[in-house]
Amino acid sequence: MEAVQLMGFALTLFISLFSVVYSVTDPNDLAIINEFKKGLENSELLEWPVNGDDPCGPPAWPHIICTGNKIQQIQVMGLGLKGPLPQNFNKLSKLTNLGLQKNKFSGKLPSFGGLSELRYAFLDFNMFDSIPLDFFNGLVSLEVLALDDNPLNATTGWGLPNELQSSAQLTNLTLMNCNLAGSLPEFLGNMSSLDVLLLSKNRLSGTIPGTFKDSELKMLWLNDQSGDGMSGSIDVVSTMRSLTSLWLHGNHFSGKIPKEIGNLTYLQDLNVNSNDLVGLIPESLANMSLGHLDLNNNHFMGPIPNFKAINVSYQSNSFCQAKICAPEVMALLEFLDELNYPSKLVESWSGDNPCDGPWWGLSCDINQKVIVINLPKSNLSGTLSPSIAKLDSLTHIYLGSNNISGSIPSSWTSLKHLVLLDLSNNHISLPLPEFTPPLKLVLSGNSLLNSSPLIASPLQKNSTSTSVSPSLPTNKSSSSKSNLVIFVVPIASFALLVSFAMLLYVYVRKRSMDRHKGPTSLVVHPRDPSDLDRMVKIAISDETKGSLSILTGRGSSSIHSGKYPVMEAGNLVISVQVLRDVTKNFAPENELGRGGFGVVYKGELDDGTKIAVKRMESGVISSKALDEFQSEISVLSKVRHRNLVSLLGYSVEGNERILVYEHMPQGALSTHLFNWKSLNLEPLSWKRRLNIALDVARGMEYLHTLAHQCFIHRDLKPSNILLTDDFRAKVSDFGLVKPAPNGEKGSVVTKLAGTFGYLAPEYAVTGKITTKADVFSFGVVLMELLTGWMALDDDRPNESQYLVAWFWNIKSSKEKLIAAIDPALDVKQESTFESIYTVAELAGHCTAREPGQRPDMSHAVNVLSPLVEKWKPLEEDSDDDCGIDYSLPLNQMVKGWQESEGKDLSCVDLEDTKGSIPSRPTGFAESFTSVDGR
Ligand SMILES: *[C@@H]1O[C@H](CO)[C@@H](O)[C@H](O)[C@H]1NC(C)=O
Ligand SMILES: *[C@@H]1O[C@H](CO)[C@@H](O)[C@H](O)[C@H]1NC(C)=O
Ligand SMILES: *[C@@H]1O[C@H](CO)[C@@H](O)[C@H](O)[C@H]1NC(C)=O
Ligand SMILES: *[C@@H]1O[C@H](CO)[C@@H](O)[C@H](O)[C@H]1NC(C)=O
Ligand SMILES: *[C@@H]1O[C@H](CO)[C@@H](O)[C@H](O)[C@H]1NC(C)=O
Ligand SMILES: *[C@@H]1O[C@H](CO)[C@@H](O)[C@H](O)[C@H]1NC(C)=O
Repeated sequence: MEAVQLMGFALTLFISLFSVVYSVTDPNDLAIINEFKKGLENSELLEWPVNGDDPCGPPAWPHIICTGNKIQQIQVMGLGLKGPLPQNFNKLSKLTNLGLQKNKFSGKLPSFGGLSELRYAFLDFNMFDSIPLDFFNGLVSLEVLALDDNPLNATTGWGLPNELQSSAQLTNLTLMNCNLAGSLPEFLGNMSSLDVLLLSKNRLSGTIPGTFKDSELKMLWLNDQSGDGMSGSIDVVSTMRSLTSLWLHGNHFSGKIPKEIGNLTYLQDLNVNSNDLVGLIPESLANMSLGHLDLNNNHFMGPIPNFKAINVSYQSNSFCQAKICAPEVMALLEFLDELNYPSKLVESWSGDNPCDGPWWGLSCDINQKVIVINLPKSNLSGTLSPSIAKLDSLTHIYLGSNNISGSIPSSWTSLKHLVLLDLSNNHISLPLPEFTPPLKLVLSGNSLLNSSPLIASPLQKNSTSTSVSPSLPTNKSSSSKSNLVIFVVPIASFALLVSFAMLLYVYVRKRSMDRHKGPTSLVVHPRDPSDLDRMVKIAISDETKGSLSILTGRGSSSIHSGKYPVMEAGNLVISVQVLRDVTKNFAPENELGRGGFGVVYKGELDDGTKIAVKRMESGVISSKALDEFQSEISVLSKVRHRNLVSLLGYSVEGNERILVYEHMPQGALSTHLFNWKSLNLEPLSWKRRLNIALDVARGMEYLHTLAHQCFIHRDLKPSNILLTDDFRAKVSDFGLVKPAPNGEKGSVVTKLAGTFGYLAPEYAVTGKITTKADVFSFGVVLMELLTGWMALDDDRPNESQYLVAWFWNIKSSKEKLIAAIDPALDVKQESTFESIYTVAELAGHCTAREPGQRPDMSHAVNVLSPLVEKWKPLEEDSDDDCGIDYSLPLNQMVKGWQESEGKDLSCVDLEDTKGSIPSRPTGFAESFTSVDGR
């Protein structure tokens, strides 16, 4: 046994002595190899001889190839080796080919600086966690470098140093998923040897540098950069004519796909999924015979072309969903194109019908024609497209306060319905095309036009006379905010208001009953100065006249047009002479307010009884509007209730169209809620507010369920709630009242009407209205009563500009709610707090997003009446007195009416006998409902 051991030992000794003496491997390389081996946790996987000292052999060790006595290659792909590389690795001076990929090498990558013969370096799919700055120095022979899938410098990321430029032979640079950060280095575009540049899944940002122009890359992968991602135009790629595979997906590239993309004749695979690309798909791209084309999740618009690509997808874009888009859509897309596709518009101008969907900044009429382009202060830059001339129904174009340059296309003069073109505060230049009256052209604030004598003519002649800029005098009772009313300003603020009101768009639905002549367009009215709550009013205009027909003032009513049979309620007719007398021939000092179609005067009867007389301006009311005028009378005479302002009579003589209402001495709730300070009024006490809330609730309940027909008010707001001397409230302004067709549950699609800030979201979005839209507005009024804030106020901080949204945020916190209570309210008692919570809860309930979740008005009455009774038991509402005896002379009639105050007048129907079972009115009702076609 001993002899055998001894022999073994001698043999080992012999072998090692032999090695020492006869080794051919360069000792420096050997030392590095030994250190490499020593550092590994599992070096046995290499199957290198134990105590071996000649890797180059012969026989050479596994995985090692030498040139002479120097190590030339190490190929250990996929062995599962664990551990670091020696830091002096770059002393393997003859290393040309290194295959370390797919192991578990970890720790710091050593510098490769100086490995001047290194041609292939595969370090990918390992766990190296940092790369030194000098890694790339002097790699003059480098052809392929792969570092993919290593967690290099994870916290800070890292960038390619310029030294890599000296690797002039580099063909393949693949650095996917290894935390490459910053911008794509410019020099890479200059490296003419590069064929393959794969940088997916890093943290690159910024644009594709211009140095990539005419680059001969075959593969360029820049997809899925985390963080901000890459951005900017992709125009330069269309010059990289050798490309076969271009992956740009998962970034924020923007702009259009260049037409010249068709030049990339070798391209097989194009992926731009999930970017911000816009515009039409160029025909040249559609014609490319690609193997794979991914256009998903961008903002491509227009028609879906016939793609030649084998495998193509284009989901989640803004295509028309048709092979051919409507001509209006194409015209609008050309308009967008010239304005460089502003992102807000790109996001909302989707589909094949600008009148059906979220087309920001456009309004349509009932015939699905675009009539208003409303994009002031919208950061538009670029030029104006001649294509707009194809939208021949346009009446108003608001593009003030943008960065639009160039001249106005002469084709625009063919827009025969255009009455207003506002291009103020842009960079419009000459020449100006010759527009003809009655167009009003607003070009102030265009410095390039300043010296031009030309603009005087379209601007100053025959301009203000037409429809759109009624520069209205203010309500007599207020002087505070009146000088706000310069036409352009309200329209500009409109955009603001809208954005906060979430009411981005309007659907106007096609209906089968269009044949009825009637209100044909939706226009946004400038702020009505007589509305103390400074709201924007939406009015309906008569397209054939091109004139605005309504604008409500205090106690006034607006015209709801449509063809109704003439009312025959003869007793309501009052002679104009009587009204002249009682208003001192419509004396200016008797003016109570003014609206778009008339002035409201105070009238005083012989015995001192006061009435409100609304006289339409003869210029505004055409003979054609006679039917409309009478229909209003019809509607108003159907709804009588102590909490609804009552129509007492009317006059029709010659050009005179006059409506007479009961006079409401304390004016509008809005005055007492929002303007009491400037008018030196007492603020409304909580008790009064509760009473008002209950009165309004009762009036609305009547309108919705108790009248003979279910009516929807559509414009409930504090300026339409009028107050008696003892601060009881009546709802006024029935100009927008709609009958609901199938009882209160039915919904009817209508033109959008109402006031921003009070509009229920579903109504604003779909145009479908039910009584629940009124409930929503009522909830808003409750919020205003609680806070003393207007529903919309752009003077407030952003988060609270839209009262409803803000109130929803704070209402669940008692502290926040108490802090939000109108400071004018002196709340100390616990019982007051309790009723405040109750009202706040009701306000929230009424403004629920889903109409189905909002209560009925009767619920509101039930919630509010016990609160009011806490303060003061109500008078009995039992008497079924019908209130007005229209056979009496006016003064007695008004007296009788006033005496019947405090009695419930809900029974009244002029044609019915007292106390009979309410029946559906005939004739009138049918024709009324048919206007909206349901
Ligand atoms: C990576 O991080 C190390 C320190 O962790 C740093 O020394 C090195 O310079 C970084 N590499 C690059 C290319 O920035
Ligand atoms: C360069 O990359 C391409 C594409 O990934 C590949 O087909 C080619 O084999 C690579 N060249 C070398 C030398 O690795
Ligand atoms: C790229 O090349 C162009 C011209 O060939 C040169 O002007 C430019 O400085 C180079 N850029 C870089 C970053 O090397
Ligand atoms: C690209 O193609 C267009 C035609 O689509 C041609 O006019 C243009 O010269 C081409 N550009 C280059 C750089 O070849
Ligand atoms: C695309 O192909 C169609 C027919 O295949 C041809 O008429 C059209 O001119 C092509 N367009 C472009 C830009 O190449
Ligand atoms: C302005 O309008 C008046 C009548 O409305 C007309 O007589 C006059 O010719 C018009 N002026 C211009 C310059 O069109």
